[in-house]
Amino acid sequence: MAALITLVAGARPNFMKIAPIARALDRARDAFSYQIVHTGQHYDENMNAVFLRELGIPEPSLFIQGGGGTHAEQTARIMIGFEQYCAATRPSLVVVVGDVNSTLACSIVAKKANIPVAHVEAGLRSGDRTMPEEINRLVTDSISDWFFVTEPAGVSNLMTEGHAAERVCHVGHVTVDNLLYQKKKLEAGEGPATAASALKTKLGRYGVVTLHRPSNVDDCEVFTRILSALTSIAKVLPLVFPVHPRTRKQMEAFGLEAGPNIHALPPLSYMDFLNLWKDAALVLTDSGGLQEETTALNVPCLTLRENTERPITVTEGTNIVVGTDPVRIGTEARKILDGQGRSGRRPPLWDGHAAERIVAALRDIAF
Ligand code: UD1
Repeated sequence: MAALITLVAGARPNFMKIAPIARALDRARDAFSYQIVHTGQHYDENMNAVFLRELGIPEPSLFIQGGGGTHAEQTARIMIGFEQYCAATRPSLVVVVGDVNSTLACSIVAKKANIPVAHVEAGLRSGDRTMPEEINRLVTDSISDWFFVTEPAGVSNLMTEGHAAERVCHVGHVTVDNLLYQKKKLEAGEGPATAASALKTKLGRYGVVTLHRPSNVDDCEVFTRILSALTSIAKVLPLVFPVHPRTRKQMEAFGLEAGPNIHALPPLSYMDFLNLWKDAALVLTDSGGLQEETTALNVPCLTLRENTERPITVTEGTNIVVGTDPVRIGTEARKILDGQGRSGRRPPLWDGHAAERIVAALRDIAF
């Protein structure tokens, strides 16, 4: 009988990661069936449903209304819903992706129900335990059974933490599988005719900004500092800024506004956003995924954080970790705009076939 695999997704960056895994499992129906559990961590139409549609993700078997509230409230709601699901369904394996609260919640529940867990994008470490995602990564990896890793640093972190080498597979990156797949669709003319694409045409040369880390947007002083850096850059390069719901709320709470020549937009769909950033002169971000995606397409990226858990984007890619000091941000931005930015190369195994490698490895595992 085909082994039942449950794919867990809940927040925006999870959807990009499960889409290619679902496609690869569709091609392995002889060995596997699968279900998707949506934890509801992200629930707005433009943070959630639009992604499921565009990325071709099948209808979830279960939607847990886990979103909103504090970390403990959100994690607890997801755990309760997922525990009921595990008791009723008993999958052979639970696959969790990334480092969001849903990843943590569902890995704990599955392990306590004696269901094996595979973690996709395992082993990444920022070394910064004030970052909620770092806690999620550490806890998830400490109890997972199999580790699918995107870059060599992830392998060495897991080895240092004492995991068995045969359970750690360097497979490349499902985020890049999805990126290359969606880019092909965009090039085939499935591009969006939206306000953002009209703005792109109008601006010609522009930069793209995303911000949502609590360390950047929940602290008024840091957020103000970042906005002042963006205002300076916007004097020479118009910036497009799709604003995350957390960020929007904090701007309202602090009475902050995007400066002149900074075009604030609502969150964009995957295709709409890809269409925008792939041709940007510069991306400024605190996202984890976008650091990797810009490296994959060789787009210059400045990361507005003090550290990164994805070091290959710096050593081989286009990423520069600049922190939140406006002088440093301005200096690095100017270098890129003057044509002195550095060019990167796409890391090994970021080739569009990571999900196939994951499914091939799963075939060798006796559940
Ligand atoms: C979460 C992840 C983060 C990921 C990010 C991508 C954790 C700890 N954080 O952060 O790693 O990079 O998603 O977006 O899991 N909200 C809405 N509508 C939504 C979703 C959120 O209004 O659809 C608002 C709510 O007020 C919510 C707040 O944004 O409380 C923050 O959402 P939450 O999921 O807690 O964290 P993110 O900042 O989105």
